[in-house]
Amino acid sequence: MVIEKICCLGAGYVGGPTCSVIAWKCPDIKVTVCDKSVERINQWNSEKLPIYEPGLDDVVQKCRGRNLFFSTDIAKSIQEADLIFISVNTPTKTIGNGKGRAADLKYIEGAARMIADLATSNKIVVEKSTVPVKAAEIIMKILRANTKPGVEYQILSNPEFLAEGTAIDDLVEAERVLIGGEDTPEGHKAIQELCWVYEHWIPAKNILTTNTWSSELSKLAANAFLAQRISSINSLSAVCEATGADVSEVARAVGRDSRIGPKFLEASIGFGGSCFQKDILNLIYLSECLNLPEVAAYWQQVVNLNDYQKNRFTRKVIESLFNTVSDKKIAILGFSFKKNTGDTRESPAICVSKTLLDEGAKLHIYDPKVETDQIYYELTHPQVTNEPEIVRKNIEIHRSAYSAVTGAHAIVLCTEWDEFKELDFKKIYTDRQYKGAGQSDLTLTCIYCEKLASFLTDNVLQLILYV
Ligand SMILES: NC(=O)c1ccc[n+]([C@@H]2O[C@H](COP(=O)([O-])OP(=O)(O)OC[C@H]3O[C@@H](n4cnc5c(N)ncnc54)[C@H](O)[C@@H]3O)[C@@H](O)[C@H]2O)c1
Repeated sequence: MVIEKICCLGAGYVGGPTCSVIAWKCPDIKVTVCDKSVERINQWNSEKLPIYEPGLDDVVQKCRGRNLFFSTDIAKSIQEADLIFISVNTPTKTIGNGKGRAADLKYIEGAARMIADLATSNKIVVEKSTVPVKAAEIIMKILRANTKPGVEYQILSNPEFLAEGTAIDDLVEAERVLIGGEDTPEGHKAIQELCWVYEHWIPAKNILTTNTWSSELSKLAANAFLAQRISSINSLSAVCEATGADVSEVARAVGRDSRIGPKFLEASIGFGGSCFQKDILNLIYLSECLNLPEVAAYWQQVVNLNDYQKNRFTRKVIESLFNTVSDKKIAILGFSFKKNTGDTRESPAICVSKTLLDEGAKLHIYDPKVETDQIYYELTHPQVTNEPEIVRKNIEIHRSAYSAVTGAHAIVLCTEWDEFKELDFKKIYTDRQYKGAGQSDLTLTCIYCEKLASFLTDNVLQLILYV
């Protein structure tokens, strides 16, 4: 089989960018990205894409309508495809067995059932979503139990390692592509077919092939390791504050050890995003199911430390404002979980904002890429405790950082957007002082967030808080 047509189920942060790059790099392959959400597909077919990702617009412009299509016609796309990526969401379960930890595989199962119902010819089905180990077995069972005469399936695991904010570069210059498959002649052949797709632009030495279960586990392991580094340095930020050591100096010194390396060693408010917490919880649940409580407890601590850091940060903000933020105007700069994305899933800014709202603060929020409705949604959806009407009354969304900070008692920098480096904090402070605010020798938000602290001098740090 030569792959001529690819279908991708799920037009989200993974399906959209990944398939856009495949279409760009493989002009001989027709790539159709499908979603159940009509709205999402309409956005992919419009001038304003549903997600912000540097470089993505250019790639989509180059290929859309040529060999890249976004469609809700899932039946047609499945039927004509040689290879189908499953890139649907795999959130943490919110009900039932494993609630709060296990991955909810209902969308994976739904996708597998769609394929089983609709496929009329042989398919290679590729699990791109992040899943617990052995999820491919579920897909395999559903497909093989419902196979139409003459239709055969091969299931591969091909987890995605892109990071939001750098997705296009990560896909184009992938350090590694991981493909797991069955250890059978048919399995090896399917692996080779998918390798051929990636070899259009990825050097063969960067494509790793493994068995299916190693591939699935490697993705969980990679995210757990990355999150663990963040929790490790954040734990040391607390020690630094208690001792007078400087966490950025410690990180620099530790990171110079080539065995450790400098990446993911920046202290922060805590990790966010749709993946780290979900995937570690998934690993914890897996360990518990395998009767490995010590392993589960080890990884649980990475999540606990992250919660501790978010709460510690917010507590410090409140303490710095004389233990009361009631009716105080607080500017929140940045709402996405990191720079260069509009994604707010699990953003630490949500936790900080919610606590400050509970304490009666008036929040003035600005983020360069997060839509106003998204901020309201995160702070008012049913799982949050704050009353939606009260929240709406107590937050104002701004179109610029300068507008948000005007007259603020405090500025809380939650996301390390580059444009915040350019802000004239001295002028902001002077303007404020001129209006009668006193001078403070307190330092605020940057204490924990080395990413932010690195562009604010010691002097400027003192200018962040007004009392
Ligand atoms: N976001 C990341 O940075 C990232 C990185 C690596 C891996 N992952 C993993 O990739 C997967 C997808 O993540 P995402 O961030 O793209 O999620 P997402 O929520 O942005 O997108 C998933 C999409 O799948 C659609 N969908 C669900 N069931 C469907 C079906 N049966 N047919 C068609 N469409 C369907 C949903 O409508 C949604 O638009 C998850 O398992 C995630 O853990 C995410």
